[in-house]
Amino acid sequence: MSDFPWLETLQGAAAVDVAARSDLLARLAEGAGTVACPPVLESLLIGAGVLHQTGEGPVLTAGFAQAWRRDAAGIMARASFIRRAAADVATGLDDLVSDVPAFMAKSATFRLFRYDMAEGISAQHLAATRPWVDYVESLSQSEIPLLLPLIDVRPGDRVLEIGGNTGLLSAALVAAHHGVTAQVLDLPAVCVLGDERRGSDTLRFVPGDARKAETIKGFAGAVDVVVFKSVLHDWPEADAAAMIARSAAILPAGGRLVICERGAFGASDAAGKDMMALANLVFSPFYRDPAFYEGLMTDLGLRVARAQVDCDMIFHVTTGQRP
Ligand SMILES: C[S@@+](CC[C@H](N)C(=O)[O-])C[C@H]1O[C@@H](n2cnc3c(N)ncnc32)[C@H](O)[C@@H]1O
Repeated sequence: MSDFPWLETLQGAAAVDVAARSDLLARLAEGAGTVACPPVLESLLIGAGVLHQTGEGPVLTAGFAQAWRRDAAGIMARASFIRRAAADVATGLDDLVSDVPAFMAKSATFRLFRYDMAEGISAQHLAATRPWVDYVESLSQSEIPLLLPLIDVRPGDRVLEIGGNTGLLSAALVAAHHGVTAQVLDLPAVCVLGDERRGSDTLRFVPGDARKAETIKGFAGAVDVVVFKSVLHDWPEADAAAMIARSAAILPAGGRLVICERGAFGASDAAGKDMMALANLVFSPFYRDPAFYEGLMTDLGLRVARAQVDCDMIFHVTTGQRP
């Protein structure tokens, strides 16, 4: 069963989003006496397994209450994203399959990812950045336990994670291997949130723009492993290739460049019956065959190995080691 069974139908995800936005779920979680709930919303939430009816009115089911206490931000971020993605697919599939820029211009999901608003650190910048950071964090929470064993980090390594968001993967690498330290390079607002959530002596956040040639070069001599997870598909081939070449250039002998990415969206992904199939579909034009990354690393003189694991799609972990 999925970790988010309440979000397995569109009506369930939409109802969770509506109930979360109106604070209904927070008030129910606090045990705030009788909470008024519109009858149709109540039916949807009961149907999704979020509520059950008692003599005194609706209350949260034990499973949902426990999950909400553990990760309300993740539940809200996923419910909201599924709703946006479903709307985009319903109204925009024509463009998605034939005119991606037109799809993106109209899409509610791409409006969420305002990287321009992550370039400052005012309260307004942080407020615009938090919702998509929470979504990305929630996906990473599920992906990292599966990816971690495939990432070649060794005791004492100094890791640079480019586009590492709020540092979940880097924190997991630091925890999993003795003496490892990590630096996360990301946009300024993302680094502020990351530092608040899990900054430490062994996990540092460095604000910067990875696309600028001098940014990656600035880490030369301080890095044994460079990791990109779910970052490079965001960029056109030329930008991705430039970031890969600059990362390879700062590796010492024996150093590794690790790229974790979903593979090209295919029929088995399209056949997915849960809402993550819709959430991934909006990004489908950008996912690449891992041969693209493998070819670039090989041309740069790295010794390349590849592994894969099934998360909500197949993730490929492509590792290039400098001889
Ligand atoms: C799709 S998210 C993936 C985040 C994280 N690696 C994960 O898998 O959960 C892409 C990340 O790249 C970051 N990013 C985008 N443009 C960037 C840039 N020019 N320089 C540095 N980071 C950037 C975003 O802020 C975001 O954290």
